[in-house]
Amino acid sequence: MMPFEIPGHLEVKNGHLHVGGVDTVRLAAEYGTPLYVTNEGRLRENYRRFAAAFPGVQIFFAAKSNNNIVVQKILAQEGAGADAFSDGEIYLARLAGIPAEKILFTGNSKTDAELRYAVDAGTMVSVDSHDELIALSKIASAAGREVRIGFRVNPDVDAKAHPKLATGLKKSKFGIPREQIVSIYKEARDLPGVKPVGIHCHIGSQILETGPFAEAMGKMMDLVEQICGFIDLEWVDLGGGYGIPYQKGAKTPTPQEWADAILPVFDERCRKLGIRPELHLEPGRYIVADTTVLLMQVNTVKRSGSNFVATDAGFNTLIRPAMYDSYHEAVVANKADAAPADTYTVVGPVCESGDILATDRKLPAVRKGDIVALLDAGAYGFCMSSQYVGRPRCAEVLVHDGQAELIRKRETYDDLLQNQIVPGRLL
Ligand code: LLP
Repeated sequence: MMPFEIPGHLEVKNGHLHVGGVDTVRLAAEYGTPLYVTNEGRLRENYRRFAAAFPGVQIFFAAKSNNNIVVQKILAQEGAGADAFSDGEIYLARLAGIPAEKILFTGNSKTDAELRYAVDAGTMVSVDSHDELIALSKIASAAGREVRIGFRVNPDVDAKAHPKLATGLKKSKFGIPREQIVSIYKEARDLPGVKPVGIHCHIGSQILETGPFAEAMGKMMDLVEQICGFIDLEWVDLGGGYGIPYQKGAKTPTPQEWADAILPVFDERCRKLGIRPELHLEPGRYIVADTTVLLMQVNTVKRSGSNFVATDAGFNTLIRPAMYDSYHEAVVANKADAAPADTYTVVGPVCESGDILATDRKLPAVRKGDIVALLDAGAYGFCMSSQYVGRPRCAEVLVHDGQAELIRKRETYDDLLQNQIVPGRLL
C-alpha cells in the first residue's frame, strides 16, 4: 500500500493511483499529459473542515492560489469570500458568484485603474500604503461612492516560513508599519470616499507552527486597542498561510490547532475591549493544495550524474520546486503499489538545470511511458505555469462522483501566438 493513501481521495486500486475514485492512468490516456486533476469532494471537505474549526469566522479564499473558475465557483457555493490581489482576481471571483461585499482587494501595488474597478465593483479594499489611501479617496469620492477599507499592517512577525514566503517581517514590502497605524486611521476617518472598518495582515505562507499566528493576532489586537476608540471596527483579518504536510508523515497543525492558537487571543482581547468585530481568515493552500495531482508522462530514463526520469512537465507547469525548493511527493501512478527499486531524480523538459521536480526519490523501476503523479499540486500550481520554451499550458480535469470533466482545455500552438502582432512590413 502506498504510504499516503487518503480514503475516498487518493487510493491505489489495481496498482493504479486513483483520485476521487477515478483511475489517473486512464485520465492521462484520455486527456493527455501534463494534466492537473482536482477532486471536487476533497475541495469541499477541506473547506468544511477548516470552516468548522473557526465558527463565526468569515473565510476569504486566497484566489491567487488557484485561479480556476470552477474551483472558485465550488468554494462560492460553500460560502467563501475572496482575497483578490488584482482586478483580474476580482473579475474572476465575481464571475464565480462571490458577492462583491465578500471580496477584499489586497494588492500591494494597485493602479488607479484597478482601484476604480474595485470601487465600481463594490469590493472592500485593504490599503497597503499612504499613496494608495489618497488615490482611493479621490477615485471613490469622484464616483460618489464610499469604499469600506482596512489597512494592511506590517506586524513585524517572523512566520518561520521560507524566506520567499515570509511577508510580515519588518523589511517586507507589504503593509504599513505598526507605528504609523494610528495616524493613518485618523487620516482615513476624515477623508471622503473611504470608510475604515477593518484591519488586515498576512504574515506568510506554508507556515508550520501555530506560534506566529498567535503572535500576529496579539499584535493586531494591540493595534485594535489603539484605534477602536475612534474607528467603528467591523472586522479583523489575519490573512492566510496555513501550511500543509507536503512530505507525507510530516506533522502540521490541524485546523483545530490553528483555531486553538488564534481564537482565544482574539476572543479575550475583544472581550476586554468590549467590542465584537468579525474575524476574517484568508487560507489558500490549505483549501486547494491536496485536492490536486499533476500527472506527467515519462519521456526518458537516463543514468548519468543522477538517475534521471525526464517527464513532459517541468517548471513551466509547476514552478514551486524550482522557485522555493518545494517538496512534492512523486508516485508512479501506473505502478503505485510496486516496491521501490531505485533512487530517481524527476526532471522536466525545460532548458535549465534548475528544472527539477523531485530529487533522489525511491521509486519503483521507472520506464519510458510511465505516468508520474506529483501530489499536492492544487495551490500555486497551474496559476503559476507558463509557456516557457514554447510549451502550451496543460489541461485541468475535475473529478466528481467517479466521473471526470475537463475544466481547462490544453493550449495549442495558436495559444503561443495569442495577442502577438506581426507588423505588416514583416508579413
Ligand atoms: N492572503 C494574502 C494577502 C496573501 O498574499 C496570500 C498568499 C494568502 C492570503 C494565502 O496564503 P496561503 O494560505 O495560501 O499560504 N507561490 C507561493 C505562495 C505565495 C503566497 C502569496 N500570498 C507557493 O507556491 O508556495
